[in-house]
Formats: sequence, C-alpha cells, structure tokens
Amino acid sequence: MVGGIRSLVEQAMLAPSVHNVQPARWRIEDGAALLLEEAGRRLAVADPRGNDAAISLGAAAEGLRLAASRDGLSAVAETDALPKPAGGLRPVARYRFVPGAEADPLASLVDARRSWRGAFERPTPADRAAALALAGEDAAVCADADALREMARRFDRASYGFMRDPAFRRELVSWMRLSRRHPRWSADGLNAEAMAMGRIEALGAGVVLGPAFRPLDRIGLAPALLAEGSKVAGSAALVVFHRPEAEDPFVSGGHFYRLWLRLEAAGFGAAVLAALADDPDAAREVADLTGIPAGRRVVSAFRIGRRPPRAQAPRARRPIEEVLVEGGQAG
Ligand SMILES: Cc1cc2nc3c(=O)[nH]c(=O)nc-3n(C[C@H](O)[C@H](O)[C@H](O)COP(=O)(O)O)c2cc1C
Repeated sequence: MVGGIRSLVEQAMLAPSVHNVQPARWRIEDGAALLLEEAGRRLAVADPRGNDAAISLGAAAEGLRLAASRDGLSAVAETDALPKPAGGLRPVARYRFVPGAEADPLASLVDARRSWRGAFERPTPADRAAALALAGEDAAVCADADALREMARRFDRASYGFMRDPAFRRELVSWMRLSRRHPRWSADGLNAEAMAMGRIEALGAGVVLGPAFRPLDRIGLAPALLAEGSKVAGSAALVVFHRPEAEDPFVSGGHFYRLWLRLEAAGFGAAVLAALADDPDAAREVADLTGIPAGRRVVSAFRIGRRPPRAQAPRARRPIEEVLVEGGQAG
C-alpha cells in the first residue's frame, strides 16, 4: 500500500498552486496520507491571509482523491486527531483509502492539464459556442468579443495595481526562474518557458519588474510593457469561477481544480487571471458582467482558448523526496 500511496501523492503533486509554490507536503502512513502545509511557502505579500495557499492545498487534496479513484479507492478525509504543527509544517487533513470507488472521469485529464500562458488561436464561432457550453453551477462564461476587450482592459488595470507595490514585485520575481541556469528552473516557481517568454522577454521581465520599474512607471511606460490584455481579448472566452461567499477556500480549491480539468476535457488551454478576482472592483465588475448572483464570491477567472499545435512546456515540480515528510518531522 505504501508504494501505492506514493504514486497517489505523485499524481496529487500535479495540481495547480499559486506561483507554483507547491505548499503541499505529504506524510505516508499505514493506509493513509497526511496532508501538511509548508508554512514557509506562504506568499507574505500577495497572500497574507493564506487564501491562495488554501486553494492550492485544496487542489492538491482533490488531486489525491482523483488519483485514488483510478485505483477504485475513495480518499476519506479526517481532520480530528491530527498531529500538532511542528518544524514549519501544519497538518491539514488525513486521508484514509476505502475500496469501492468508481474512477472519476476527470482523473484522466490530470496529466494533460497545465497553464497555457501563450496566445490562443483565433477563436471560431464553434469555439465560442463550446466555451459557452461550459457554463455551470460554479462557472460563468463570457464569450462576447466586445465584453472580452473590456475585461482585458480591466485585467491590465487590476494587475498593474498589484505590480506597483515594490514588495509584491520582489516576491513575484523571487518565484520567477528567468534563466535555465536557475537551480530551481524545473522544481518550482514560474520559469520563463511556463510563462511563454523567450530569452529576451525573460531578460526584459527581470529588468522591468526590477530596477527599471520606477523610472518606467514615472514616464508612464511600464503599463504597456507589462500588459497582457491582448491575450485576454484574443481568447475564446473568460470563465469566471465562483463559489458560496462563506466557503472555506480549501474546499473552493478542490472545485477550482475540477473546473480546470473540465476546461481541459473540452480541449481548451487555460491561464488563470487571479487579478480579476483579487482586485475587489474588478471582481465586482466581472460578477456584474457575467450575472453572478449575490452571495457568491468570484474566486478566480481563466482565459481559455485553443492552443496552437506546439509541444507543451514540461511541468516544473518539486522532486518527491522534497515533498514527502518523514515520520518524525511533524507531530
Ligand atoms: C490560487 C491560484 C492563483 C493563481 N494565479 C495565477 C495567475 O494570476 N496567473 C497565472 O498565470 N497563473 C496563476 N495560477 C496558476 C499557477 O501559476 C500554476 O498552476 C502553477 O504555476 C503550476 O503550473 P501548471 O498549472 O502548469 O501545473 C494560479 C493558481 C492558483 C492555485
């Protein structure tokens, strides 16, 4: 069973996480897997309340559940009798594996799903229709070209608002791997390839987000250099992910991952546009535009579209030895 659980953890590690910080750590126990948060991986500036960390942990837990279902197992969560936090690790939940589950149809998409941060192919009317068909209980879809252009402007404004904070930029850049020589290029964070940047663009990003930001901001050039809105305007649709206002973000994280896998199942590439949810004004406008009812929280948003026929970048993930926690390390 232990070997089996290790492979379930490997699948869980493919889940998305904010800035690819991968806060989830796992301890393999007899017939169970203990999920822990590595507190040192919290984004102190971008995520002071741990909302994005909780979404990332919820996605990792959902990844474990999906993987278990392929082996005919239900991963049943227990949150009582958890060990005490120790060594910077906070136990989140213990999963016991019970036979009798059916394979979740979304489990087969885990391997293919990843962020697509390049431009999409020009959307056809059939793409727009396929995107609109994705609307559901927790997904609102906007596929109108004019509205997408407006959302693109809104996204650039919201994202630039965050970028103006030097501490935010420092933290973001610390998770960027702009050169292949970076020792963590394949392990975590955002590498230039995953961000769809060429070598020159990567060099430029380091300069614009680093020493040149202030002078470029002063002369009004920085917004244009950082703008990503054209990719939003050129997408097939904006998919807004919303959940009940009072829901624990850990729970939302599982649903977030499932929605992303549904996008993949429909053949769409997707990039997260967190700024549209994190900026309260932008979130309100997005909710109005897409008719999200009161009592629901805009948790995140994606731009989606058809990826050009090109190989996907390999995924950057921590080695499993770095993720597994030895018996004595927590509790
Ligand atoms: C809470 C959360 C917020 C995210 N915000 C963004 C974002 O604003 N922009 C972006 O490009 N990706 C965002 N992502 C996607 C992650 O960067 C991505 O999942 C991670 O780099 C791992 O790469 P993968 O999705 O290709 O597996 C977010 C993911 C999560 C879970």
